[in-house]
This record gives sequence, C-alpha cells and structure tokens, in this order.
Amino acid sequence: MTLLTWDQTCSVGVRAMDDQHGILMDTMNDLRLALVAGCGREKVSELLDRLIEFTRMHFWSEEQLMEHAGFPGLEEHRAEHHRMLAEMLHAAHRIQYGEAAQTRELLCCLRDQYAGHIEELDGKYGVLLNEQGIR
Ligand SMILES: [Fe+2]
Ligand SMILES: [Fe+2]
Repeated sequence: MTLLTWDQTCSVGVRAMDDQHGILMDTMNDLRLALVAGCGREKVSELLDRLIEFTRMHFWSEEQLMEHAGFPGLEEHRAEHHRMLAEMLHAAHRIQYGEAAQTRELLCCLRDQYAGHIEELDGKYGVLLNEQGIR
C-alpha cells in the first residue's frame, strides 16, 4: 500500500477543496502507517472513524458548493458520495468487529476509490466553479 502524496495534478481548482483533499490523504497515510507499525484494531478503528467523520464534512462541503453553483452533475455526484460513505462505514464495522481478516486490502480498496473519485468526479465541479470566479 503506497503513500498518497498531494501535488498540483490532484488539484480540482478550488483551494478549500484541495486543502480538504490533502487532509483526507494525510489521514489515509496515517492509517497505512498504523498498519505497517502493527498497531492494533483499536488504533486502526480510531483512525478510520476520524477519516469517516472528515469525509462526511468534506462531502457536505462539496455538495453545498455544487448546489450554490448550480452544478448539473450534483445528483450523480451526491449518489456517489452516499455509496462511498456506506462502503466506508461497512469496512469500519467489519474492522471494528474483527470480521475483516484482510484489513489492508480493504483500506487499499478505499484509498483507490478515493483517488479515483477526486480525479474523475471532483475535477468536474472545479471547472464550473472557476468559471464563476471561485478558486
Ligand atoms: Fe472530494
Ligand atoms: Fe466528491
């Protein structure tokens, strides 16, 4: 599981969202480091809870921005946020209750989905917001 690093190619063009994506990546990196260091389920669950709480706030921020900008892809984007959050909650539950023998694989999958989401979907609202002078 490789570390995520934020650089200009990850930018969606809106500073506040770039900052939040940076924090999300840092939290996922902390999770990775906790696994490598052999931290127990309790620590991993705590970090995952932090990731989920921040994710909720981040998704809400994006949806507010898209709504105010009249972004036409809002409903599709919102549905994808719901799907990802449900998947994270399911993964957290499995890890917390010891059902997840493959914690590392589960986290890798979440990380890849997140990176894909930022690259493929988040970049789209950035274009519209930039046109409206929001950066
Ligand atoms: Fe995002
Ligand atoms: Fe998003």
